[in-house]
Amino acid sequence: MPGIALVGIQWGDEGKGKVTDLLAERTDVVVRYQGGNNAGHTIVVDGERYALHLVPTGILYPHCTPVIGPGVVVNPAVLIEELESLEERGVDTSRLMISGNAHLIMPYHLELDRVTERRLGKNRLGTTKRGIGPTYADKAARIGLRVQDLLDPKIFSEKLGVALKEKNLLLTRVYGRLPLDHKEIVEEYLGHAQLLERHIHDTNSFLQGSLDAGKTVLFEGAQAAMLDLDHGTYPFVTSSNPIAGGACAGAGVGPLDITRIIGITKSYCTRVGSGPFPSEADPTDGEILLEVGAEYGTTTGRKRRCGWFDAVAARYAARLNTLTELVVTKLDVLSAFPSIKICVGYEYEGERYNDFPPNQTIFNKCEPIFEEVKGWSDDITGARAPGDLPEAARSYLEAIEELTRTPVSWASVGPGRDEIVRISGDS
Ligand code: GDP
Ligand code: IMO
Ligand code: MG
Repeated sequence: MPGIALVGIQWGDEGKGKVTDLLAERTDVVVRYQGGNNAGHTIVVDGERYALHLVPTGILYPHCTPVIGPGVVVNPAVLIEELESLEERGVDTSRLMISGNAHLIMPYHLELDRVTERRLGKNRLGTTKRGIGPTYADKAARIGLRVQDLLDPKIFSEKLGVALKEKNLLLTRVYGRLPLDHKEIVEEYLGHAQLLERHIHDTNSFLQGSLDAGKTVLFEGAQAAMLDLDHGTYPFVTSSNPIAGGACAGAGVGPLDITRIIGITKSYCTRVGSGPFPSEADPTDGEILLEVGAEYGTTTGRKRRCGWFDAVAARYAARLNTLTELVVTKLDVLSAFPSIKICVGYEYEGERYNDFPPNQTIFNKCEPIFEEVKGWSDDITGARAPGDLPEAARSYLEAIEELTRTPVSWASVGPGRDEIVRISGDS
């Protein structure tokens, strides 16, 4: 089974970094296929914490080739900074491959992300302000600059000229900002080009060749199903397709190349930024989840909104991704509760919805229908086998399996690499 996709099934921050790390030992290639440095993937190895934003988690393993695929949006300054800080910590970054087709996040994208959020006021999306949406918008409008343009100063300058003409009008006339200087951007980006040139490759042919040779390729999703541009809680979404289907388009492989699809979910639920969140907890329980779960954003440091496991959204995401298995993370956090709520349906205008509702108004205005199950108070961070878990914790995992119709393969009981329990399956 050479192609494995690993995807978040909630609103991000499910612990994808930790689980990617777990699999990386038996993986030859780890590829990011969408998103950019809006992601924040945390890995804790021997007590050392790494927070990766753009570089695939596989960078931490000398035997792994990390790949930034064509579907990713790349801020070169951020990438160079991330590579330098990894080098400072003794990580060899020379193996990183970047697709020439990946789009570049430009200074005006950052500026536009900031000013549009400001203009939206109380309707703002709560983006990470990393320029992600404006970069994907330009990609679709076909006025984006790509990583390969860095290798041709003349083309880079020309394309920038075309884009900047429009962007400066927008910045100055609509938003009352100062125009950006063409020459300054050219100098800055071509400076980055010198550092990144050796990493730029035809990643499609590399990935396809790796799969043909029977190597294990891990598609590392960023963000999550409910933030998917087409299938999430639009407009409160990101601007790419984090779902497993997005891995094919974003990495340049075919659907049959991916045979194992692992969904990552927290044992509860969090969301950063604005947008509907039916299973959001009341302030008292929310505060406990926030503090015990240390729910502060890896990228922006913002407090994450906390709530209970939403089985309706999870089932929707399980089907969207055709998950072959689920990994439930942060089970240890629920030890703080004598009883645990699970959102099993939504109610809107007297009607019950057991499945994800077809229109936004229902999802925005619905009330959650909670079922309450018995908690456990034991500290489970030392559990390493199913038998080490209290019966109530095992029942909770079984309830998740039933509600999502997906087998749970692992339960994570702490941030460390070894803090994990194999529940079912054998690899
Ligand atoms: P990602 O974006 O999906 O990779 O997730 P983040 O790294 O943004 O957020 C997950 C956070 O939970 C990180 O700080 C992890 O170290 C931490 N974490 C992961 N698994 C567990 C777990 O099982 N228990 C606890 N307590 N923390 C965990
Ligand atoms: P990882 O990979 C959680 C959210 C933002 C905002 C919305 C749009 O760590 O799980 P964007 O900057 O993408 O235009 O913001 O998406 N968001 C995330 N939330 N985890 C992430 O990544 C996220 N990436 C984006 O908070 O609500
Ligand atoms: Mg994160």
